[in-house]
Amino acid sequence: MELDYLSVDDLSPKELGELLDLAADVKARPDAYAGRLADRSVALIFEKPSTRTRVSFEVACVQLGAHPVVLSSSELQLGRGETIEDTGRVLSRYVDAIVLRTFEQERLEVLAAAADVPVVNSLSDFEHPCQALADLLTMRERLGALEGRTLTYLGDGNNVAHSLLLGGAKAGMRVRVATPVGFEPIPQVVQRAGALAVESGGAVEISNDASAAAKGADVLYTDVWASMGQEAEADERMLVFTPYQVTQALVEAAGDDVVVLHCLPAHRGQEIAAEVMDGPRSAVWDQAENRLHTQKALLLRLFSAA
Ligand code: CP
Ligand code: NVA
Repeated sequence: MELDYLSVDDLSPKELGELLDLAADVKARPDAYAGRLADRSVALIFEKPSTRTRVSFEVACVQLGAHPVVLSSSELQLGRGETIEDTGRVLSRYVDAIVLRTFEQERLEVLAAAADVPVVNSLSDFEHPCQALADLLTMRERLGALEGRTLTYLGDGNNVAHSLLLGGAKAGMRVRVATPVGFEPIPQVVQRAGALAVESGGAVEISNDASAAAKGADVLYTDVWASMGQEAEADERMLVFTPYQVTQALVEAAGDDVVVLHCLPAHRGQEIAAEVMDGPRSAVWDQAENRLHTQKALLLRLFSAA
């Protein structure tokens, strides 16, 4: 049976640690992995916009010797009503893996069930598991071992928050998520992350108090207040989310060596103050770069090529 990566929870804590080790090695010694995926093809389907994910996956494929086929749903028959199952069945006859950015998580599950090749979630409304790999690698680079470290996420309890909850808990971190009332991460994910934290020695804390959550944090993380598909709610959300902005004051309330992360794209003056985003504690550009290295490691693992 083929492997899929639809959720951070598809990796055991051990596999996650090993994947991050591999990503660090891929980053340190890219030439050692060049050409490992020669003669492979990877379809990359985007039903939502993307800058980082699209370019980093495409370049990852090329650096490993694979051929990326980048497609938007509007240029596929998918945009004219062909089912995701039939698309998966057909693409499986041409390519060796399918990477999909879409809306419902269920669409990825349906694709994975129909396809005969590995399927990767490159963002759904529910999770952003490729982003979490880059986030964890960046935190490891800055902090060393992650066990017992505090990761505070401020803002919307969205796809990025879900993947961080699962990934941080697997890595033994204390994951704090502070959101406005009504925007908490979904209970199913919080419960699963809590169970993982019990096993790893980490912790999961959900609240509506940004200041308390930021106090003493090793990492402050935020994401957009209105995700792709929620544009119509942007103005309304701005009103309730303003107290959750990552400000200089919150950075000062965190640990002295706090690392500031943002999956990007960022809106300075909304979820993050410009002075924080562009300030000395920000690691966002390394974080964005790490999308490339972690996705190379993921592809190598899916093809058992490392
Ligand atoms: N962080 C992230 O996934 O960025 P893109 O939407 O640009 O791919
Ligand atoms: N939560 C954001 C992440 C973008 C990378 C979104 O889904 O739009």
